[in-house]
Amino acid sequence: MADKKNAVWITGTSSGIGKALAVEFARNNIFVIGTARRLELLFKLKKDLGEHENNFEPHQLDVTDYSAIDQFYKKILSNYKVDCLINNAGITSFKKAIDDSIEEIENILRVNLFGGIYTIKTVLPEMLEKQSGTIINILSMVTKKVFTSSSAYTASKSGLLGYTTVLREEVRGKNIRIINVLPGATVTEIWSNEVIRKHRDSMMDAEEIAKLIFRLYSEKSNMIAEEIILRPLKGDL
Ligand SMILES: NC(=O)c1ccc[n+]([C@@H]2O[C@H](COP(=O)([O-])OP(=O)(O)OC[C@H]3O[C@@H](n4cnc5c(N)ncnc54)[C@H](OP(=O)(O)O)[C@@H]3O)[C@@H](O)[C@H]2O)c1
Repeated sequence: MADKKNAVWITGTSSGIGKALAVEFARNNIFVIGTARRLELLFKLKKDLGEHENNFEPHQLDVTDYSAIDQFYKKILSNYKVDCLINNAGITSFKKAIDDSIEEIENILRVNLFGGIYTIKTVLPEMLEKQSGTIINILSMVTKKVFTSSSAYTASKSGLLGYTTVLREEVRGKNIRIINVLPGATVTEIWSNEVIRKHRDSMMDAEEIAKLIFRLYSEKSNMIAEEIILRPLKGDL
């Protein structure tokens, strides 16, 4: 039987950093399986990739639904070997702790923390079996510095930072690379138009972040950038 094709699975590729990552990897001839809830945007992205469209396969997937993730992964495993997972899907509320409803808090934790853990648990057995793989988590500067109106978001990102930091030690020596990327403010749909208008000059571009992550993915040696902080040159918002 022919070897299965290598694929990079990126969550949340319908907009922002995830979309920029999908474009960067696909243009560099890496086959990307891109997931998100808004399937129409994934198909639009595929079309916009033009000559590289065959490097992108869209799938509708909600990262909060573990059984859907399990089914999706079993399906893609028959054709592909996922050699890299990029945990990117994420949400926030920009509200103070007192103003966040329990439902909003649960949603943020479900997407950012549980979603990340679900996808990692899904790819990990095969990576361990093959003794090869890369897991890149898009976390945030909030894990290093206090930003108000982001308590649930900070809990979720710090939670995944803690989870993956322990996991990294558990799989050390098994040739599995775990890279945590901690970006500061980046122009994407997560921010309101008003914030972007006001602070555009102090925000990073998703495309620049995607280029750097592609370099981290590509540089396969006996050295690894385990945690990387990306901040606007002008400082935080
Ligand atoms: N922008 C920043 O300043 C910044 C800074 C640090 C870290 N980050 C992190 O970067 C990541 C990407 O965010 P972004 O800034 O690019 O925002 P964005 O443009 O709003 O993108 C968020 C992505 O997550 C997906 N998503 C949300 N809920 C989902 C769910 N339940 N299941 C599957 N996918 C879901 C969205 O797709 P659908 O709605 O189609 O499902 C979308 O593709 C997030 O983890 C965010 O925390 C962003």
